[in-house]
Amino acid sequence: MATINDNYLKLKAGYLFPEIARRVNAFAQANPDAKIIKLGIGDVTEPLPQACRTAMIKAVEEMGDRTSFRGYGPEQGYTWLLEKIAAQDFQARGCEVDASEIFISDGSKCDTGNILDIFGDNNIIAVTDPVYPVYVDTNVMAGHTGPANDQGEFEGLVYLPITAQNNFTAEIPSQKVDLIYLCFPNNPTGAVATKEHLKAWVDYAKANSSIIFFDAAYEAYITDAELPHSIYEIEGARECAIEFRSFSKNAGFTGTRCAFTVVPKTLTAKAADGSDVELWKLWNRRHSTKFNGVSYIVQRGAEAVYSEEGRAQIQELISFYLENARIIREKLTAAGLAVYGGVNAPYVWVQTPNGLSSWDFFDKLLHTCNVVVTPGSGFGAAGEGYFRISAFNSRENVEEAMKRITDRLTS
Ligand code: MLT
Repeated sequence: MATINDNYLKLKAGYLFPEIARRVNAFAQANPDAKIIKLGIGDVTEPLPQACRTAMIKAVEEMGDRTSFRGYGPEQGYTWLLEKIAAQDFQARGCEVDASEIFISDGSKCDTGNILDIFGDNNIIAVTDPVYPVYVDTNVMAGHTGPANDQGEFEGLVYLPITAQNNFTAEIPSQKVDLIYLCFPNNPTGAVATKEHLKAWVDYAKANSSIIFFDAAYEAYITDAELPHSIYEIEGARECAIEFRSFSKNAGFTGTRCAFTVVPKTLTAKAADGSDVELWKLWNRRHSTKFNGVSYIVQRGAEAVYSEEGRAQIQELISFYLENARIIREKLTAAGLAVYGGVNAPYVWVQTPNGLSSWDFFDKLLHTCNVVVTPGSGFGAAGEGYFRISAFNSRENVEEAMKRITDRLTS
């Protein structure tokens, strides 16, 4: 008889965003005339940059000609894209990252889950609370946890609370952990990490032979010149960190799909026999076996991000969403709410008014203002009493949503 992976039964009801969609769909069906504005999931709304579109159209034409047609590409990605990423995203910032240490993929969400394939089952794993749910759920699926308690915390995970008291940046744990997920600029709180904070993590990881999974999917939103974009800006990070990057939020590729992961060749972890094994070799093996590469057309689109024209167009997109974030921050602050994030990040993290629970506030906002946000408790127990607003939407929708909240909820 076929059996299932019982670990899936430990997962909480549904992945956060499908659960939100379920509630929104039920509301929309019951209220067909409601003009719902979605500031929940961090999905981009503005069109792909012209430079990316032009490059992709050209690539499509090449695919229509026998002499320039391409079949399977290298699983790791085409060299012309890898070299541009290495030069512009890393070497230009003084980071020692070689093109051969970069792996192109179809998403950071997939990679942050898939990376667990190359690690053992007995690692002690630390996540922040609140946290991007994928880090937790993929560990549950892999059997790295026990069941969840009433607050939704899984037995076996080390939760590092991020709160207003620590500026939503986790404190270095007093215990020893093996794998640590860090996300900066942070999803969901919009917090950022200074070089000093990341250095403390790198020092901890090196002292404890731990590996940091550094999710930098939102690095393009950093406008403060003092803040690090990559963990490799910190000395020693090549010995303890894997970094995840994405074209989703800088170039609007959420539907186009392209991302990359950096695994330095200097990174090792222990085999059962006590020997040190290069993680690059394992990830390369995994990637080549389970993945056939991102399409040529999409990689040409991603390459255009690094052209002069592409860089300027991307900057415009980022500035546009950051201005949305500013409007959200200012309007909600003026309405008397406690507001965090949204400065070097596209997410604004807000305390619910009148001590309402996150889901109660979510429902109230949906019913009273027809505005969708993400309940903070969906990101972890410490997110209870907060909600996240995404700045990814049109200016018109952001302004209208803020007006509805100010007029109908907080006045
Ligand atoms: C979010 O809303 O947290 C993001 O859209 C998640 C993602 O990028 O997968």
